[in-house]
Amino acid sequence: MHESASRRILVTSALPYANGHIHLGHLVEYIQTDIFVRFQKLRGHQAIYICADDTHGTAIMLRAQAEGRSETDLIADMQQAHRADFSGFHVAFDHYGSTNSPTNQRLCGEIWQSLRDAGLVASRDVQQLFDPVAGVFLADRFVKGGCPRCGAADQYGDSCEACGATYSPADLVDPTSTLSGGVPEVRSAEHLFVELEKMHSFLDEWTQRSGSLAAPIANYLAGHFLGEPLRDWDISRPAPYFGFEIPDFPGHYWYVWFDAPIGYVASTAEWAAENNESFEQWWKPTDDHDAIEIHHFIGKDITYFHTLFWPAMLKAAGLRLPKSVRVHGFLTVNGQKMSKSRGTFILASTWLEHVDPEMLRYFYASKISGGIDDIDLDLDDFIAKANADVVGKIVNLASRTMRWLTESGLSAAYPDDGGLFARGAADGDEIAAAYEAGDLARGMRVIMQAADRANAFVDERQPWKLAKAGDEAAAELQDVASIAVNLFRQLMVYLTPVMPALAEEAGRLVGGSIDSWDAAKTPLVGCPVSPFRALKARVTPEQIAAVLAASQQPTETDPASTNAKGTSMDDTADTTPVSSSPTLTAEPLAEECTIDDFAKVDLRVAKVLTAEEVPEARKLLKLTVSLGGDETRTIFAGIKGYHDPATLVGRHVVVVANLAPRKMKFGLSEGMVVAASGEGADGVYLISPEDGALPGMRLR
Ligand code: 2FM
Ligand code: ZN
Repeated sequence: MHESASRRILVTSALPYANGHIHLGHLVEYIQTDIFVRFQKLRGHQAIYICADDTHGTAIMLRAQAEGRSETDLIADMQQAHRADFSGFHVAFDHYGSTNSPTNQRLCGEIWQSLRDAGLVASRDVQQLFDPVAGVFLADRFVKGGCPRCGAADQYGDSCEACGATYSPADLVDPTSTLSGGVPEVRSAEHLFVELEKMHSFLDEWTQRSGSLAAPIANYLAGHFLGEPLRDWDISRPAPYFGFEIPDFPGHYWYVWFDAPIGYVASTAEWAAENNESFEQWWKPTDDHDAIEIHHFIGKDITYFHTLFWPAMLKAAGLRLPKSVRVHGFLTVNGQKMSKSRGTFILASTWLEHVDPEMLRYFYASKISGGIDDIDLDLDDFIAKANADVVGKIVNLASRTMRWLTESGLSAAYPDDGGLFARGAADGDEIAAAYEAGDLARGMRVIMQAADRANAFVDERQPWKLAKAGDEAAAELQDVASIAVNLFRQLMVYLTPVMPALAEEAGRLVGGSIDSWDAAKTPLVGCPVSPFRALKARVTPEQIAAVLAASQQPTETDPASTNAKGTSMDDTADTTPVSSSPTLTAEPLAEECTIDDFAKVDLRVAKVLTAEEVPEARKLLKLTVSLGGDETRTIFAGIKGYHDPATLVGRHVVVVANLAPRKMKFGLSEGMVVAASGEGADGVYLISPEDGALPGMRLR
């Protein structure tokens, strides 16, 4: 594959609902999207990763009510939690917005007007179930009753799991509200509809012939929907509803699925405004169709919205259509749907507490092949693969050879390696094609085969024996180690999109940061090599056991409304609590300080190099942190019990770097790690900077 010109690529992941925390199911999508974007950037293209929280709908409204606070308060907390989870997994958005933003409201208004102008909006009365106790109209998933077709009891308002019939909630026999348990009333309300059928021929053409959809998706749409008239899309909801009020239909709100995808456009507009870019250039079509590429990554459950509604809206509004909609499957854990009672409904934050996030990134990459099949996180398989591949093949290649070069640096000329480096360089095209196609599994296979060849070379040349032979073998030792280290760096170039933190660390040891795919084409010569530091620890069964134990909720039933991806199909609530923020009354603000007072406290980004428990101390971990360059500090931090030392290594934290050293029973503490704690949550939360911050940077 040869590419010269730089492409302009806008990439999105589905906007996560603000009514639940990010879990491992979500991450299948965000990790593969992030890998795609990082790959494109590494290739020298202008790629932007755009996302936002999906904040509207009945579920959010009810949850906020139940928690006794406003919706905006709830979604602000959730946004913060989502951002922290993503950043922990190195998912690096260029912009992360919210659908509840003024920009989104404005764009919704504009797109709405286009739909009106195109004559696509119709109005008619709808019979809907109203819960008189909760005071809300009930979304389909909030009502249960007997199936009007086969009589099966306890069926949801939209379809019967026993016979497969679909119907409207008002048809249920003896319906009850799952919100209040009360008997809903049938009420008539005027709703607005988008007449999708009027876009039928466009959708036929776009889905079947634009090349934007993989064949199985195009066939599914043709077989299930496009063979008959398309149903009108009910786009409004009467008050009360948390969302944007429809300007020309007061008392009614756009359905959450109308404003959610517009969030892609709004979030781009916000990014453009902050980056001196023209948002029109990204979303307004031009004659040169490929001048900008838009790629949407989505789960298979929301195919209908992204391949029929959304293109129809874009078309009607005169906006650019996606170049591809990339549909993936769900996650199973140990071969089954994620389950709270089995402890396999694992939140991102729980994983981050115990296990290295990059190991999950690698494992997902090794499983994702770009199709709609589900992928399985078999936890034993995970431990075996992460350790065998990442530690055994990649990190070990460096750990068994790099140390011989600390003094000499790399050989001044690249030695004869029997064509190994050149073969690895030639693999670059196949690996790049796999990344481009979303077939990450194929890419990882090619990379690991190259790693096997490199390790076989080291086994054969046995540098440890050369080291023992003394001076006469010194030149050969340097050559053998230089070859191995160059092969290691070549592999790290290819793995940079998957394991960016490991790549950063590898670059720090030799050759500097990896910022171009082409770095895999030319070996390094004559450059210095830093003293080797362990790059990654093995994943242990104990870490996984801790994740399962922390995720187990034996008394809670699995949310029936949550599919295997874990996101909800409609206006459904998930049951994970958002802990409410502690109030300032519990801990009043400290006395006012001036900017000069603040400047006295020198806060720096630091990287944790080692972390170990202080056995005799109930609360202390002993950390060594790097402040950049050769500057390191030893800090005793009161965070034992809240953090597994193994997962802290490699993490960026914030330290008070100019705190007077304090002599403690266990040694001298040369600073303080900044962490948050407070009423309302039993935890000590370390503060980490966004991706990109480097050790030594000052906080201002
Ligand atoms: O399925 C979901 O999780 C939705 N919140 C996705 C919305 S994607 C886009 F259309 F906004
Ligand atoms: Zn039925």
